Amino acid sequence: MAHVTAVKNNRLPRHVVIIMDGNGRWAKQRGLPRIAGHKAGVSALREIVANSAEKGIEALTVYAFSSENWDRPGSEVSRLMELFISSLQQEIDNLNGNNIRIRFIGDRTAFPGKLQSSIGEAEKITCRNTGMQFVIAANYGGRWDITNAFKLLVNKIRCNDICADEIDEQMIHSFVSLSDLPEPDLFIRTGGEMRISNYLLWQLAYTELYFTERLWPDFTPEHFESALIWFSNRERRFGRTSEQIKREKRA
Ligand code: FPP
Repeated sequence: MAHVTAVKNNRLPRHVVIIMDGNGRWAKQRGLPRIAGHKAGVSALREIVANSAEKGIEALTVYAFSSENWDRPGSEVSRLMELFISSLQQEIDNLNGNNIRIRFIGDRTAFPGKLQSSIGEAEKITCRNTGMQFVIAANYGGRWDITNAFKLLVNKIRCNDICADEIDEQMIHSFVSLSDLPEPDLFIRTGGEMRISNYLLWQLAYTELYFTERLWPDFTPEHFESALIWFSNRERRFGRTSEQIKREKRA
């Protein structure tokens, strides 16, 4: 059941998106290999997923592997792939039991066959679940997403399904990832960097951006709560004036 006390007027985001940064530094600080940081990152993620679902958040999208992460040392990439597979296998029953639907966005065709199978299986097992949607961005890039939308659009034009004059923002929106979910309300990036790093470029147009120095493995439900409280105090104007918003609230 959703129960949030400190969040102003129960203003909870419907869709939260996260860049989980800082695993490597967390491991380095402890003299551990980077993969130990990623493992601790999975534990932190487990807590945040459970906490989000409990709070009644409708969708949580996390950046697990960017299109640029292939440039990391080969050993880190392959250990990350192994970690994705083992984590998915370990968590699937628990997620499914909690009515959570798992989805992946990004180009999965570049992943090892075993990971592609685990991804397909996790999506299939949970596809009828009606609780929180847990979206994992893997081999995802915002520019890739927009380029992909262009390709789909051009194909539609070629097949005479639509004509170029019909293209508008709503149509482009329908071709990018996550178009069936509420637009992201809150973006969280841990690890101290203040950039978007090619994440959900189209989707973040009106999202509130929250940055914290805390490294991802140290990010707990209490820190998540602080982000939610911060969000509940934001005035979301969507291009209008503060006075307009206040007038609408009084009406
Ligand atoms: C960024 O930290 C983190 C990643 C590239 C990987 C994040 C992945 C997980 C937490 C596992 C998720 C698992 C599943 C199954 C979804 P970094 O390595 O860039 O840290 P640094 O900036 O300190 O070096």
